[in-house]
Amino acid sequence: MFPELVVSGMRPTGALHLGHYHGALKNWVRLQAEHPCYFFVADWHALTTHYDSPEVIEASVWDMVIDWLAAGVDPARSTLFIQSRVPEHAELHLLLSMCTPLGWLERVPTYKDQQEKLADRDLATYGFLGYPLLQSADILVYRAAWVPVGEDQVPHVELTREVARRFNHLFGREPGLQEKVEAAIRKLGGKAGKTYQALRTRYQEQGDAAALDEGRALLQAAASLGQDDRERLSGWLEGSRRMILSEPQALLTEASRMPGVDGQKMSKSYGNAIAMREDPASVTRKIRTMPTDPARVRRTDAGEPERCPVWQLHQVYSPADTREWAAAGCRSAGIGCLECKQPVIDAVLREQQAFHERAQPYLDNPALVRDIMADGCERARKVASETMRDVRQAMGLAYQGSAT
Ligand code: TRP
Ligand code: SF4
Repeated sequence: MFPELVVSGMRPTGALHLGHYHGALKNWVRLQAEHPCYFFVADWHALTTHYDSPEVIEASVWDMVIDWLAAGVDPARSTLFIQSRVPEHAELHLLLSMCTPLGWLERVPTYKDQQEKLADRDLATYGFLGYPLLQSADILVYRAAWVPVGEDQVPHVELTREVARRFNHLFGREPGLQEKVEAAIRKLGGKAGKTYQALRTRYQEQGDAAALDEGRALLQAAASLGQDDRERLSGWLEGSRRMILSEPQALLTEASRMPGVDGQKMSKSYGNAIAMREDPASVTRKIRTMPTDPARVRRTDAGEPERCPVWQLHQVYSPADTREWAAAGCRSAGIGCLECKQPVIDAVLREQQAFHERAQPYLDNPALVRDIMADGCERARKVASETMRDVRQAMGLAYQGSAT
């Protein structure tokens, strides 16, 4: 019924690095070729943990978007926007909060984990508890089918599914539906009405698809029914709930083990990152001074790639023949470590060259980025406001509607 829409967001907390590129952005670029994609700057999410330093967020927003564009995210294909510019996310978050059990949020694994990990910040806040529910609103407001995320975010998508299911269960029922259905069945007439009910029972109790088809045909042919009643009975035939919010699925980004320059996972907070648009001299220096197999003290000592973080970079950047050359040369002491690192340096610089080139027009003319985002916000709001119209109506908040 809906296109297979993709939604994902990223918090603006500093310049993106190669881990972000290989872990997320590369995947976004791939997805935009096949799906309508909505990618947004999750600035409200950043505030849940950085509310005491909003200037960091403000400074990172545009840079992060330029990193996306540098990676090849294409604003002509994907809709790019800023969460806080689409207030529908906040409205849906609020409405979902009315019916989301507190326990569901307290049980999300990231809740306790992050509080412990970021112990220097006071995260005993209302907003932080609501973090995953705001994320649910981000996703549900576009009725997304797919949410590309890393493994740590899968529980948030699971929660989103439960929230959607509960919402549909609670509100996916037209007020007075039972009475309206009974009236419509009377309009169908005695005999057709009985047949309709028998077909409905057969379909719902035995899952008999032929009964569903017959029931639909019967409704199609019933001249006594108006369009509203026909739709009502058609919905009733299949079940009693209308699907207002749809359940998304996580699209797991294949775990790319992007090591930092110390061999640990690349992360800004470990100080081991290479930024996507870092200058070539600095990148070269960082890789040349990377630690290698600690057992390889002298050039003449044989080494073992499995103990060397540079080898992990070869896994990401080198084709099979280069990897064979490096592994064999390491184990036989046939090559030195600087020699071994050179193809990695070359490959990283080549990749970054493309980033720099794609970013340049936006650095020269920042108004371009602002226009892209303004345009994206407008497109996003259009979709989001349609969902909100249905949500408000389902929750009895559409007072301007007629009374019938
Ligand atoms: N919580 C996500 C993260 O930290 C960011 C995010 C916010 C998100 N809203 C989202 C991701 C909606 C996917 C969909 O990575
Ligand atoms: Fe690491 Fe390459 Fe040196 Fe072996 S030769 S220790 S793989 S850098």
